[in-house]
Amino acid sequence: MNIAIDGPAGAGKSTVAKLVAESLSYLYIDTGAMYRSLTYAALQENISLEDGNALLNLLTKLDIELKNEETVTTVLLNGEDITSDIRSSSITANVSLVAQHEVVRHEMVQRQRQLAKEGQVVLDGRDIGTHVLPDAELKIFLTASVEERAKRRYEELTAKGETIDYEQLVQEIAKRDKLDSTREFAPLKKAESAIEVDTTSLTINDVVNQILNLVKERT
Ligand code: C5P
Repeated sequence: MNIAIDGPAGAGKSTVAKLVAESLSYLYIDTGAMYRSLTYAALQENISLEDGNALLNLLTKLDIELKNEETVTTVLLNGEDITSDIRSSSITANVSLVAQHEVVRHEMVQRQRQLAKEGQVVLDGRDIGTHVLPDAELKIFLTASVEERAKRRYEELTAKGETIDYEQLVQEIAKRDKLDSTREFAPLKKAESAIEVDTTSLTINDVVNQILNLVKERT
């Protein structure tokens, strides 16, 4: 079985996907980390984020490796550990611009399918159920209100010692959702057969258990 988990920014996809994968001994693939890695490299190399072909050209020179150990994913870009760099606010603010280019997405999707080809995978992203793995046996669309998603992100950042304005987070998340869901090619969208789980008032454990129950029903 393959599991696709899609949804807007901050809905808890990666936390949930990692726990589901760990519990089933499946491979977890964080596809957002791949777009973030390309954004990181493009900003380092001063490549215009509007130039899809230049980004694709850069991507062909990049080896993006996602290493999972229990529930920790390490991201290596041509061997360099960029795990925390790709979570910075500048990457978060720019990644949707990079992800909107069709040529970039084609290459990313090819890499994602290659990583998923052995099966028993949990992929999280925006277009997994609609585009990357349209035949996935279980598709989940995780949502939560924008206020709740901003609150979670606020708590995560303040726990790390960062100072951030809550209202600014609400706006940034709403902006990223808009860019992701209105882009022309493979936008963020619930797949027809996806099960929508609104996590606004659920704990992480509730969500993980719901998904594990859905897996059980299908096996
Ligand atoms: O999941 P995460 O928030 O790390 O994703 C970062 C960004 O990467 C998203 O806002 C979106 O622009 C892009 N993305 C995408 N398709 C995916 C995964 C991520 O367009 N499958």
